[in-house]
Amino acid sequence: TGPKICVVGACNIDLISYVERLPVLGETLHGKKFSMGFGGKGANQAVMAAKLGGEVAMVGKLGRDVFGENTLANFKKLGVNVSHVHFTEEAFSGVAPIAVDDNGANSIIIVTGASDLLSAEEIRAAENAIAKSKVLVCQLEIPMEQNLEALRIARKNNVPTIFNPAPARPGLPDELYQLSDIFCPNESETEILTGMPVETMEQAEQAAKALLERGPKTVILTLGERGCLLVDANGARHIPTRKVEAIDTTGAGDCFVGSLAFFLAAGKSLEDAINRANKIAAVSVCGQGTQSSFPGASELDPEILSDIQPAES
Ligand code: RIB
Ligand code: NA
Repeated sequence: TGPKICVVGACNIDLISYVERLPVLGETLHGKKFSMGFGGKGANQAVMAAKLGGEVAMVGKLGRDVFGENTLANFKKLGVNVSHVHFTEEAFSGVAPIAVDDNGANSIIIVTGASDLLSAEEIRAAENAIAKSKVLVCQLEIPMEQNLEALRIARKNNVPTIFNPAPARPGLPDELYQLSDIFCPNESETEILTGMPVETMEQAEQAAKALLERGPKTVILTLGERGCLLVDANGARHIPTRKVEAIDTTGAGDCFVGSLAFFLAAGKSLEDAINRANKIAAVSVCGQGTQSSFPGASELDPEILSDIQPAES
């Protein structure tokens, strides 16, 4: 059995259209290519951790439709524990229509559907799965109160938490920051949350420190090709990443967060875990799509996983 991780969050089906340029209001355009794949930030992070060999429990909700059934089958195929993946008749499974233009820029609509109906009771029913994990991971695609409930359960059971505030919106409750051991936003999320620019490293450090003051123990600000900025009580450290030729960055943040959770659950130090997660995210941006671009253990430099011990059960 591998390092234990619990992920609470949304599952979507990504419907990706590749177009020369994004349409303007009222316009109909011909797309060049279409692809469909498994997505949703929670599902993506869970799948990444499972692909590395983690023992992952997913907590989420699907609609009783072909998207939901396929998502469940995908989790099972990858060995993700689905005891806390629920179904509803009341809404469709989450979907994400995505348009990607010739420059790789995208626009995304998320209709989280069934994920909105995940209840606080269903979160509480997952207390055991949370309590026996080495890390709990949450994002912003399910209702706030359900996230807070999951984070409270983790805190009560001394389980460290990673909170990925994506997609960001301003005005997150103080309790959310205080219950996050690691608060992990990207550049644009940091700008939305702080109202501060993050163009230069100095600016990024100031913004990350502003987030740290709100209560998390650690802030990991992901900076795309610039790597990450790790900020905690000991100050700020920049952890660079190797430059690659990116072709599709959709889901790269989720690849990073899922990998980070895996290596922390495996007992690695923060900096070591960040370095390894950076390397894996760099592989993912060289592949098209979301989960379809996440490398499995066999596609990685063997060194990256060679010292991971199977967890005691
Ligand atoms: O982070 C990428 C994800 O955001 C996509 O898979 C899409 O479903 C949206 O949730
Ligand atoms: Na990708």
